[in-house]
Amino acid sequence: MKPSVFVAIPMFEEVLDHLRQHFEVVDNQADTLFTPAQLAEKLQGHAGAITTGTERIDAALLAACPQLKVVANMAVGFNNFDVPAMTAAGVQATNTPDVLTETTADFGFALLMATARRVTESEHFLRAGQWTKWRYDMFAGAEVHGSTLGIIGMGRIGQGIARRAAHGFGMQVTYHNRSRLSAELEVQCQARYVSKTELLQQADHVMLVVPYSAESHHTIGSAELALMKPTATLVNIARGGIVDDAALAQALQEGRIASAGLDVFEGEPQVHPELLKCGNVVLTPHIASATVQTRKAMAQLAADNLVAYLTRGQALTPLNSVQGRA
Ligand code: DGY
Repeated sequence: MKPSVFVAIPMFEEVLDHLRQHFEVVDNQADTLFTPAQLAEKLQGHAGAITTGTERIDAALLAACPQLKVVANMAVGFNNFDVPAMTAAGVQATNTPDVLTETTADFGFALLMATARRVTESEHFLRAGQWTKWRYDMFAGAEVHGSTLGIIGMGRIGQGIARRAAHGFGMQVTYHNRSRLSAELEVQCQARYVSKTELLQQADHVMLVVPYSAESHHTIGSAELALMKPTATLVNIARGGIVDDAALAQALQEGRIASAGLDVFEGEPQVHPELLKCGNVVLTPHIASATVQTRKAMAQLAADNLVAYLTRGQALTPLNSVQGRA
């Protein structure tokens, strides 16, 4: 009998067909959002699951689902996984690195450009019929080319953004990261390692690409915002919770920084009501990796991880090392 897997999120039909060649598949094409108790119930009897950032996989869920052997996150971020709990339970965790790097770096740059050059704010003005004449200072934004970009979090996506900034836009790139890049990578990215304080004080634009963890919670709060230039922009394509959204809304309203571009939010899909009131913020609904090709590649890799682990005992992009569940 084929093992059974639960695809907790809506999925490309071709990927479901691929999974059906190996497994009994229960899908969620109805796009139901499950409470933790409902998710535990849905996972009963399944050996594998595909999830994304909305499904929390923790010790309580694992204890309630003893047949679960592998959970494949369709995302590079995995803060919805309690990886130590998964390891302790012998459950394989996987994510989808690499396949989304360049697409997400493209979007980081798109959000930076839209924010610094006030693209959405000016479009709303035009659509509202308020454009009656050309003015020298109408929606005058911040220069991007030749300016200084500070990147916090210099993994693969951060490096992709640095290359775009340095090679494409002639920007000076500084970065801060838990560990410094090799000299070779620093040359490739034309990026200079600095302290977080120096980065915040000197950057014209600050880009956040750091994974979410207890340590990175509120990497940017009121103290950090106070260090930034009043003309600076802040872009967050990392995770909600990296920025203190209430403090950011206040800083934007008081003009303590010029503008922000946000693709991720604390408690998303809810967005802090004060951010919604700010004209100087560009808001997008967690779409940094959303191109058809990249989303298909992410879905395929998540599916391939289930196939590889459940048929050969070896995941393609594992997040933990496990002995396996009996
Ligand atoms: C990721 O891959 O982590 C993206 O944020 C989508 O969740």
